[in-house]
Amino acid sequence: HNADKGEFKHYMLKEIYEQPDAVARTIEMALDNGETTKLRDDFLQRHETLLSGIRHVQVIACGTSYHAGMVAKYWFESLIRIPCSVEVASEFRYRNPVVVDNTLVICISQSGETADTLSALRDIQKQTPAGLVSLALCNVPTSSLVRETDIFLPTLAGPEIGVASTKAFTTQLVALILLILKVGVTQKRMTDEHLNTLLSELHQLPGQLYASLNLDAPIKTMSESFEDKKSCLFLGRGLQFPIALEGALKLKEISYIHAEGYAAGELKHGPLALVDKDMPIVVLAPKDSMFDKLKANMQEVHARHGELFVFASEASQMVAEDRLHLVYVPDVCETLAPIVYSVPVQLLSYHVAVMRGTDVDQPRNLAKSVTVE
Ligand code: AGP
Repeated sequence: HNADKGEFKHYMLKEIYEQPDAVARTIEMALDNGETTKLRDDFLQRHETLLSGIRHVQVIACGTSYHAGMVAKYWFESLIRIPCSVEVASEFRYRNPVVVDNTLVICISQSGETADTLSALRDIQKQTPAGLVSLALCNVPTSSLVRETDIFLPTLAGPEIGVASTKAFTTQLVALILLILKVGVTQKRMTDEHLNTLLSELHQLPGQLYASLNLDAPIKTMSESFEDKKSCLFLGRGLQFPIALEGALKLKEISYIHAEGYAAGELKHGPLALVDKDMPIVVLAPKDSMFDKLKANMQEVHARHGELFVFASEASQMVAEDRLHLVYVPDVCETLAPIVYSVPVQLLSYHVAVMRGTDVDQPRNLAKSVTVE
């Protein structure tokens, strides 16, 4: 590989640490230094006419890229009130789905060569619904996906070598929020004030990601509790639900520990039965609009002798206690919190995998890009 591991033991760790820079580069596509009143004039300018006509969004992706799409759904609907559906490409392509007129189809893919994602896109294009606009959110400008779509929105993550996706994911999230702001402004679905607030929050994001890398040491300590575990739950609500799914995917991919991501509100509907003293439960708990509900969910688990590993903001005023391990994550606004909370779950999976001696960069049975069905 021409990308060098440098001082890092694995590509994955290097790529985790590259996130503040990769995210800053991606933000700069749409935002001039310090500018908080507007998006850059040249950001997606050529596509304004296409973007002004869309009324519905369909995201298609696989794996980690699908999780980025799930966050985008929450954002599209809550921030600019455009309905958004998200589906894994391998299901979407085989169920004869309805694509309504004036849909923006967003294909999210690090590689741009994922077979199911490409096929799903081609099937929609064959249906030719009126006002269809296709967009590739992709890390490889020369990929098939980019060639076959109307709009190319790049992630500027740089080459990602580790099979477990890290910086591609966080830069996908950044590019998605930028796209949503662009559509919001173009269709006048967002007040100037709201735009200003989000832009100034975006400016702080690389610094917050940088600060979250400082959690490496406490997370490494935390990871020791996972070494001999068989199974693990990741919980989140709202924007953190997709991050819980992503955390579980990361852990199973590289450490081979079975892990399950759940919307914390679903606990009572089944997974609570799994909880006992041998079950580590990772909780993504920023102090957001869902925090009080999430806290009640944590109490349910704690009362059943589950061992909690909580990522929370200091503002939550949570304190560590018996069977409740706590790491404080830097403060970040609710909208961008899923980007920052991705880092601790990546670091946790990484350290658990290293401790278990698995092949972190090249996990068994997996390929970096899945070009066959
Ligand atoms: C992520 O850690 C996985 N290796 C995998 O789920 C990946 O995200 C998926 O195969 C999609 O790949 P793509 O983004 O290149 O389309």
